[in-house]
Amino acid sequence: MIKSTKALSEKNLLNLSVKLWFIVAVIGQWIFATYVILFYGKSTVTGHLSNWNIVLPKGYISGEHIGNAIVGIHLLLAAIIIIGGPLQIIPKMRSYAPLFHKWNGRLYIFIAFIISLSGLYMVWVRGSIGGMVQHISISINAILIMVSAFLAFKYAWMRNFKKHRIWAIRLFLVVNGVWFFRVGLYFWLFINNGPLGFDPKTFEGPFLYFLTFSQYLIPLALFELYLNAQKSHNKVFVISIATILFLFTILIGIGIFAASSGIWIPKMMY
Ligand code: HEM
Repeated sequence: MIKSTKALSEKNLLNLSVKLWFIVAVIGQWIFATYVILFYGKSTVTGHLSNWNIVLPKGYISGEHIGNAIVGIHLLLAAIIIIGGPLQIIPKMRSYAPLFHKWNGRLYIFIAFIISLSGLYMVWVRGSIGGMVQHISISINAILIMVSAFLAFKYAWMRNFKKHRIWAIRLFLVVNGVWFFRVGLYFWLFINNGPLGFDPKTFEGPFLYFLTFSQYLIPLALFELYLNAQKSHNKVFVISIATILFLFTILIGIGIFAASSGIWIPKMMY
């Protein structure tokens, strides 16, 4: 009896860590989305497209209508997908508004493809900051997004909701890879009081090579560990994973604070 109560409390700890992580992440993602809407949206609506270049070196290029339109679509879809993602994951939304879940999910999957393809165009055709390592890594991110989107849709279609849920969460994590990158970067700048392990001019260096792969591999690995911990009867393992998730939450909390105060909030008011 005592054993089962203990086992229950370990799982409660695990669930608590995940819920806390999710709440902190959603706050950070919605601040990011608000920045995208206010900064890029305002520049676009007021006709000051060249303001995109304050953040994106190759955001707006005069005369390149198709390329500029693709960047604009990428930014618009970025705001929609960041806001829509958490609404898909929250279990109460699924049970109270199943029709919303179905259509928001279809939109999410469609956007996941378009944003990945437009991102690939921006990296390989238009050119972006960073070097070959970052280009390859973000392209792997794009492929992971499209594969996860396809499988999340396929399992929903087949009514295999157990597998659908797992692939939908993987999709949510890899879609947020670019967000994890920004939060990780600002966490690093905050704790080191400036750039360390990379050249801020070329945007290359060992730390950024590590971060560019970590932006999706660490969240995916933590999710696998969480799935294993959910099934596990090993008390030490479950508590360890709950603790790792809790520490990860503190890390992203610091990163969100640093990114919000360093770039997102100042640019919202630009
Ligand atoms: C699916 C989730 C994605 C979201 C939400 C997203 C969002 C954004 C946002 C908001 C920006 C503007 C930069 C900023 O203000 O911080 C941006 C820029 C950019 N994104 Fe994405 N993006 C996503 C996926 C991708 C993928 C998969 C790729 C590449 C394959 C990509 C490539 C780019 C590039 C190249 C830029 C321009 C950065 C530069 O100047 O080099 N994005 N993205």
